[in-house]
Amino acid sequence: MTEINEFSITNNFSPNTNITLYHGDRLDLIKQIKKSNSKVDLIITSPPYNIGKEYEVRTSLEDYIDRQRETISASIDILSDKGSICWQVGHYIESSAKDKEAFPLDIILYPLFKAFDLKLRNRIVWHFGYGLHEKYRFSGRHETILWFTKNTENYTFNLDLIRIPQKYPGKRSYRGKNKGKPSGNPLGKNPSDVWDIPNVKANHVEKTGHPCQFPLALVARMILATTNENDLVFDPYIGVGSTAAASVLFNRRCAGADTELEYLKIAEERVKLAYKSELKYRPLNKPIHKPNIKNKVAQIPLEWE
Ligand SMILES: C[S@@+](CC[C@H](N)C(=O)[O-])C[C@H]1O[C@@H](n2cnc3c(N)ncnc32)[C@H](O)[C@@H]1O
Repeated sequence: MTEINEFSITNNFSPNTNITLYHGDRLDLIKQIKKSNSKVDLIITSPPYNIGKEYEVRTSLEDYIDRQRETISASIDILSDKGSICWQVGHYIESSAKDKEAFPLDIILYPLFKAFDLKLRNRIVWHFGYGLHEKYRFSGRHETILWFTKNTENYTFNLDLIRIPQKYPGKRSYRGKNKGKPSGNPLGKNPSDVWDIPNVKANHVEKTGHPCQFPLALVARMILATTNENDLVFDPYIGVGSTAAASVLFNRRCAGADTELEYLKIAEERVKLAYKSELKYRPLNKPIHKPNIKNKVAQIPLEWE
């Protein structure tokens, strides 16, 4: 256990610790949380996609779905009544070259959540700029987040904490009792269900040794929107701890598991930096970079003209 003043990071779950980084299988951590009679307020994760990354053994799609069913079912068992569950997924890909076939994991997994009578609040499209350049199909540049809550109207949604700047904040009402007054919300607009957030590739300020980590801006937006200070966030596949670091930044507790010790060591470092306000991350609402047309690489090469 690491203690910095009153702030604690532990390997096993206890309701009083700020951050739990459990080395092992996600179901074992869920058992610990259940045994303590705690409930989690947000489950947010990006599970393995079964595409043969260094941390996963590729199995059949059927086996993969069975393991996801286990995680989803056990996680929902520890979800509080006002809580949310967010599953961030892309595609499972079979074959290669011209025979490549994509299976959209959100569509495949949706019935697993519905079997627990959860309600889908949004299917968020996460759009990003970098990825494989495909030759025989369109290059993939989006993944999705399925956001469910229990079948109740009593769920947390802090819209004001995640508003983004309006395109035209100076717009004014042109009729009615507010005629002449600014028509927008001074806190900004609803960020909608299409999110343009750069994925964490080579030059990204948050890049670690993990091949597919969450951008902090993505996980932070969901944490701010669906939890309150001191709530408990749970990530069954926590990797290098992006969920934990974002939880620290916004005064939430967090518990997560990973089978790879190397990732958890990085996670612990990131959590400590976040606690000391020294973690480097891309500002949450920073606009997408637009290339400067004066820059040589943004210009058509003379050979192509
Ligand atoms: C897509 S990555 C998650 C990355 C994470 N969102 C981040 O920002 O670092 C999936 C993670 O699941 C972990 N994993 C695979 N099987 C697991 C299991 N049975 N229990 C817990 N973690 C597991 C992998 O080691 C990998 O780090």
